[in-house]
Amino acid sequence: MSRQYHLTTFGCQMNEHDSERMQGMLESLGYSQATERAAADLILFNTCSIREKADERFIAHLHEARALKRRRPETVIGVGGCWAQSVKEEVFRRFPFVDVAFGPGQMHKLAEFLTSDSIGAQGYFEFESFTGDLPVKRAREFQGWLQISVGCNCVCSYCIVPSTRGREVSRDPAVLIAEAQRLAADGVTEVTLLGQNVNSYGRDLPHPQRLSFAQLLSAVDSVDGIRRIRYTSPHPKDMREDVIRAHAELPALCEHIHLPLQSGSSAVLKRMRRTYTRERYLDRVALIRELVPDCALTTDIIVGFPGETEEDFQQTLEVAEEVGYDGAFTFIYSPRRGTEAAEIDQQIPHEVKVERLERLVDVVQRRAAEQAQRFVGRTLEVLVEGPSRTDPSRLRGRSRHNKVVNFDGLGNPGEYVDVEITGATSQTLTGEMSLVARAG
Ligand code: 5AD
Ligand code: SF4
Repeated sequence: MSRQYHLTTFGCQMNEHDSERMQGMLESLGYSQATERAAADLILFNTCSIREKADERFIAHLHEARALKRRRPETVIGVGGCWAQSVKEEVFRRFPFVDVAFGPGQMHKLAEFLTSDSIGAQGYFEFESFTGDLPVKRAREFQGWLQISVGCNCVCSYCIVPSTRGREVSRDPAVLIAEAQRLAADGVTEVTLLGQNVNSYGRDLPHPQRLSFAQLLSAVDSVDGIRRIRYTSPHPKDMREDVIRAHAELPALCEHIHLPLQSGSSAVLKRMRRTYTRERYLDRVALIRELVPDCALTTDIIVGFPGETEEDFQQTLEVAEEVGYDGAFTFIYSPRRGTEAAEIDQQIPHEVKVERLERLVDVVQRRAAEQAQRFVGRTLEVLVEGPSRTDPSRLRGRSRHNKVVNFDGLGNPGEYVDVEITGATSQTLTGEMSLVARAG
């Protein structure tokens, strides 16, 4: 029987994509996927280090892996991704049962380790640009990722990512377009462009081949077979009018923008080193509303950043109220090793952070529920993903606005259907499939 691997992924979509590439690579080496961790010859983790909670969750899994290895000492344990990068060689001191550790996007180093005769523990933490064309094992055949850049040049004072993923490097547009064409030929109709800061794409490219992010969107839009384009995440400082306009003009580009706010207080934004003010952010939102009136807006917000006063927090509440996001990821600030903000003296007590989070979530959810009412009575195009999570006799899919839609109807995963929306909460829409089905 072939050797079996088991992979657990933590963190963001970039990590999910890295994991798909890791799986593709392992399968090309003859490994197959184990149904459970206990059955695996190779136990792998693709880790995240964005908040302390992410670390803690992962460490619990790692201890389980150690117990399995005690029973079966020939089991190989590998740890990749941002947490691994953030602790580097220390990983082998703290967790001597780990055999191989590697930074984000360095799957090829795992292959090198697995195919070499090396017996000692190995760590691979050099930053490199994109690690080449690895085969990808996609979670869904009709949805694909397109990683347009690696790394991040921002210096957000709370964030560990610049230190785990290195400097920003844009990939060659010709290579990206060829990859989008390959995805489409392979049955992908929805593609998500990935980068730490997608809308600074291209600025590091040499002139003759340089494309801006808006031009790249347009090129992907022209690829036959691509019906939906999404991207994550943009930075408000780089949100130029051409990108916003593209949402109105490019047929495949979805009516959804995830625009991380982080804080509604200009003073806090300054200490976060976000390089925009509350006014500049709201001005971007106003332009989105003007050019793409139906665009869904979502965001990320951190509460309890060091020194955040009640007045600062009130300003965050005001922005959340005023913008009326369709959804928001809300986080309690978590000090991260080696970041600037972790060194600031005025850390906020945990109870205050929790209380602010609750107040923020109330506003976000109320506004999201209100905004969602605009869909009731409309017919939306839904990409079917599978059965509904709460009621398997119904279907679940996503609208172009990235709203989850649970509905009665027939359809296979990957099909586009029209759904008449009959109800809406802050999180999901419900509806019924229209009788005249689309070709999909
Ligand atoms: N503490 C809390 N939230 C954080 N994020 C990034 N770093 C931290 C941190 N140290 C949040 C930001 C970012 C999202 C992916 O995670 O809101 O946009
Ligand atoms: Fe993704 Fe950031 Fe977590 Fe790394 S630390 S996996 S970039 S969320």
